[in-house]
Amino acid sequence: MKSIMDKNLTKDELIELAAKHVCPGRVETFKQLGTVPVMARREGNYFWDMDGSKLFDVHINGGTFNLGHRNPELIATLKEALDHYDMGNHHFVSSARTHLAKELVNSVPGDMKYCVFTTSGSEAVEVTLRTARKATGRRRIVSFKGSYHGHGGLSLMAGDADQAAYFLSEQPQDEFTQVPFDDPGAMEEILKADDTAAVLCEMIPATIGFPMPSPGFYPQLKKLCEKYGALFIADEVQTGLGRTGKMWACETFGIEPDMLISGKGLTGGIYPIGAAVISEKTAGWLSEDGWGYSSTAGGSELGCVVALKVLEIINRPGILENVREMSAFLAEGLEGIKDRHPFLVEIRQKGLVHGLRFDNPYGGALVTACGFESGLWAFPAGFDRSVLQFKPNLLVNREDCSEALQLLEKAISLCEERFKV
Ligand SMILES: Cc1ncc(COP(=O)(O)O)c(C=O)c1O
Repeated sequence: MKSIMDKNLTKDELIELAAKHVCPGRVETFKQLGTVPVMARREGNYFWDMDGSKLFDVHINGGTFNLGHRNPELIATLKEALDHYDMGNHHFVSSARTHLAKELVNSVPGDMKYCVFTTSGSEAVEVTLRTARKATGRRRIVSFKGSYHGHGGLSLMAGDADQAAYFLSEQPQDEFTQVPFDDPGAMEEILKADDTAAVLCEMIPATIGFPMPSPGFYPQLKKLCEKYGALFIADEVQTGLGRTGKMWACETFGIEPDMLISGKGLTGGIYPIGAAVISEKTAGWLSEDGWGYSSTAGGSELGCVVALKVLEIINRPGILENVREMSAFLAEGLEGIKDRHPFLVEIRQKGLVHGLRFDNPYGGALVTACGFESGLWAFPAGFDRSVLQFKPNLLVNREDCSEALQLLEKAISLCEERFKV
């Protein structure tokens, strides 16, 4: 793409230009971490930094690259779609949107009926929150402390209070409430006021390092929602699309949500799209008001075609089995690393979601920095830097997993040597 954007800048020049026009704070933070990654070539498990380093990607942007970077089938699908479609007219009925909605609705457990398409996960979160308020006539939204649901209006307020307050967007306490993850008692204290529209659940909260719910937590929470008339919304932007070994984490945890949110992986890493899957009982507004929600680019037909291919690939025989097999393989390998390196103190795992906690408040961030030098791209949890997020794509085989484990161990060893941790 030299023709439109490459003015033969060196990596350092590009970073300075980005600091000047795009993201000064971000550039500074990466500099403090010791490296400012700039993605150049990308393919399968890997991307290459502009400085030439080859990196095995186990951050994969929270699941965006669930099927690897530039998956050839997805690229071919988008290229073919470009021969026939454009974004489409969002006011009209569309073949691509209708087929994708049918596939998504049929994939989610419960009495799902409709799908509203957006350009991002945050917007899909907002669709579900508005739907919940409209359906229940209540305003309060309860979510988990430390969960992340995006940087839109309502989605930001449903997340970390400090992040919302930073933009003077805090909400009155009687509209957004957060309770600790995995604490049904604290949840019931709020729900029993009978004024909660929805409990918005980031099924395995990424930003606090993938703590796992206790067995039975979600079924208990669903019962509480039913008892107190609150709707259960599963935010599956990160946990969905096969990541936990089933299509959706709500299946893994044995519950039927009232609404479900997808994003990231649904894009195939190549065309933005988000989706809110909505149950029949909550979706009254869709019949009442055909324009109750509207988004010009939401559900672009190009994105729908890519997303249909994403679902087709994940539904192929062997893909979810592979997730479960690789999960078991990685569990064994990670335990071995933990035995050899006391710096790694805890492994949290469900399917191909791993939170690796280190014996240092910044342990995850230190391994990120050393990983970059060792050939591994992994990222710490935003609100708990002791934890490293470790999420390979869904198509990895044993050889790939062995390579990722070796690179991780190399990064940990480098960390121990350099920082004496
Ligand atoms: C669980 C969860 N929900 C919602 C979002 C927001 O998605 P987007 O960045 O596409 O707006 C994210 C993004 O990281 C997320 O991880």
